[in-house]
Amino acid sequence: MSALLSVRGLGKRFGGLTALDNVSFDVDAGQIVGVMGANGAGKTTLFSLIAGNTRPSAGRIEFDGMPIVGLRPDQICRLGVARTFQIVKPFPSLTVLENLRTGAMFGRAQLRRVADADAASRRVLEDVGLEDVADRPASALTLSGQKRLEIARCVATGAQLLLLDEVMAGLTPTEVAQMLATLRRLQQSRGLTLLVIEHVMRALMELCGRIVVLHHGELIAEGSPAEIGDNAKVLSVYFGAHA
Ligand SMILES: Nc1ncnc2c1ncn2[C@@H]1O[C@H](COP(=O)(O)OP(=O)(O)OP(=O)(O)O)[C@@H](O)[C@H]1O
Ligand SMILES: [Mg+2]
Repeated sequence: MSALLSVRGLGKRFGGLTALDNVSFDVDAGQIVGVMGANGAGKTTLFSLIAGNTRPSAGRIEFDGMPIVGLRPDQICRLGVARTFQIVKPFPSLTVLENLRTGAMFGRAQLRRVADADAASRRVLEDVGLEDVADRPASALTLSGQKRLEIARCVATGAQLLLLDEVMAGLTPTEVAQMLATLRRLQQSRGLTLLVIEHVMRALMELCGRIVVLHHGELIAEGSPAEIGDNAKVLSVYFGAHA
């Protein structure tokens, strides 16, 4: 079986700065893959390239066997890829439900009748635990609620692959545990594939079947959580040379 997402020799330069250099990895359908790396490692840049917000300087990206470099973000979204942003940006004056509507109507799901889009969106809100606040303004949500809303917006587009950029950052340990349960539920009940950037290392270790580690734009390790936890390069990057 070929991979759902395939990244080959991906590179991105911003002027003289190399944000990503020759990065290659695959994500199979239904997997949860973690992306680890220190600040500035190139994690968000990787997502921007996959989602079509930025064009790579080198390399190829295939989604479901189709080359997607050069497509616009809305075209990539309609193929089934949706991302969250590190800085959450809901439409604050719209209700939580309304924040999902556009994605459901014009994303991969293409539910052009508002009633259909809203019905599907309510089911998504149930899956992420926001059903009770569906009709409240997005601005009324807590940080944890806003992170859930970002995820819900991605799911509502009908995406198969979600790119989640630090959706657990700033959450309490209890909220992190709840978020992990939500992400697992989305994977299992909807068959979604998740690529998850996270600094909370323990959360990633618990959630992911595989983890890739970026360091200064290079992929320095890839493997199961146990392999990553044992990897000498990763330990030296995270805990210094004496680890
Ligand atoms: N649009 C841009 N223009 C110039 N430099 C950029 C741009 N976007 C990112 N960079 C640089 O590329 C490098 C990688 O940035 P990126 O945001 O991908 O890192 P990150 O791993 O997501 O970090 P963080 O954990 O802080 O979110 C950084 O040095 C950053 O300053
Ligand atoms: Mg980032």
